Amino acid sequence: MKNIDISEVLSNGKALEGKSVTVAGWVRNARDSKTMAFLNINDGTTLKHLQIVIDKAKFEGVDLSSVTKNGVSVQVDGVVVKAMKEGEFEINAQSVELLGDCPADYPLQKKYHSMEFLRTIPQLRVRTNTFNAMLRVRSKLSFAIHRFFQENGFCYIHTPIITGSDCEGAGEIFRITTNGYADAKTAKDEAEYIANDFFRRKAGLTVSGQLEGEVAAMAMGKIYTFGPTFRAENSNTPRHAAEFWQVEPEVAFAKLPDIIEIAQSMIKYIIKAVLDECPEELAFFEKAFESGLTAKLQNVVDSDFVVLDYGEAIKILEKSGEKFQYPVEWGLDLQSEHERYITEKVFNKPVFVTNYPKKIKSFYMKQNDDGLTVAATDLLVPGVGEIIGCSEREADYDKLKAAMVERGMNLDDYTGYLDLRKYGSVPHSGYGLGLERIMMYVTGISNIRDVQLFARTAGDLM
Ligand code: 4AD
Ligand code: MG
Repeated sequence: MKNIDISEVLSNGKALEGKSVTVAGWVRNARDSKTMAFLNINDGTTLKHLQIVIDKAKFEGVDLSSVTKNGVSVQVDGVVVKAMKEGEFEINAQSVELLGDCPADYPLQKKYHSMEFLRTIPQLRVRTNTFNAMLRVRSKLSFAIHRFFQENGFCYIHTPIITGSDCEGAGEIFRITTNGYADAKTAKDEAEYIANDFFRRKAGLTVSGQLEGEVAAMAMGKIYTFGPTFRAENSNTPRHAAEFWQVEPEVAFAKLPDIIEIAQSMIKYIIKAVLDECPEELAFFEKAFESGLTAKLQNVVDSDFVVLDYGEAIKILEKSGEKFQYPVEWGLDLQSEHERYITEKVFNKPVFVTNYPKKIKSFYMKQNDDGLTVAATDLLVPGVGEIIGCSEREADYDKLKAAMVERGMNLDDYTGYLDLRKYGSVPHSGYGLGLERIMMYVTGISNIRDVQLFARTAGDLM
């Protein structure tokens, strides 16, 4: 490979000034005049484009019309020179080679395209500034997540994607089967149908790595998973994807306040990393998606999050005088409108809502002494709502078993999980952070379909 990164030319222009370099990229826009032509090219290494200056006198007899088109790919040899704008650099072209033509039906001809339109061309929308910035922030954020856990002594665990359990108990599992239509017709009942299937039992894509993460934590102490999870949630909201990435730490000997502290430190750490490493991308999102974005993120790094008891949250909502679409009552789950009221109108920062009624939460959460609530917390943030689901786990064998029986769960599917409470049980806690949710918070992009390379939602598989 001959070419150097455009990010290198732009950030290290002073050292490269006067030197010959080769760069390559896609033409984002081009201008052609009588004596000069200009190409703005981008190679994905930075949000900024590099300007290629073509002095037509040096290109006599060369047909430049093939490279002065949006979307074509080119390789350019030229000399790095100062640009008009102080501190910036561009290339005086010596030769321009067309690598790949791009016909006039290329859909990205305008400066602005709606996000809805871009969703129809996932194979090309990555070539916009929005997706360039989004993907770089997603990469930096992911690496910062790893760094945070690695620096704090956590072991990275790869939990299985194929499971026989339903961690959240919500029945939102994508079934995995090698059986076909014909098998379903010939089996005498469901049991026979499943007995003939690949795993000889019901299998599905994991909704969460937690249950297996707990297994690892009961030996390795502090672990985290970071991988894809799947939910067949048929809800068409801007915040739910069928496939999304989750970060799930699990910590032995930690109680709810301990895990809340870890979650808060992690959020601050990863947001600070994005502030430090992606200032250009954040400036772009600030302009295009959310004014005040950088100040909002800085404020998250600088101030403590609110910890609010669920009961208090209900009281605040009841006294608010707001007309909510969904009822507010102790025992009911908080809806998106309630979460937004609390984070946006009341506190205007991240809020941990703690001690939810046990009836609306999962079987594995530690039951509080009041008999009514569990030691669980959701982290809610302005604009997005829930980004983290967190809890101390029920470490008592009998209580856990009772909670499972109460929910009508098939205990045979969870004997391994129950064993953790039988053999050397310890208090432990963990949480799941939705990567796409925090991406929405950090970028101001308001639809989850636009923080994934390919959107994965009900009825949409491009
Ligand atoms: O609150 P949830 O369902 O919690 C769990 O799955 C736990 N087992 C996690 C744990 O304790 N290890 O999901 C965790 C987070 C949510 O807060 C949200 O950020 C994200 O995962 N999430 C989704 N993100 C996008 N699309 C969906 N359909 C999501 N469902 C959950
Ligand atoms: Mg949740």
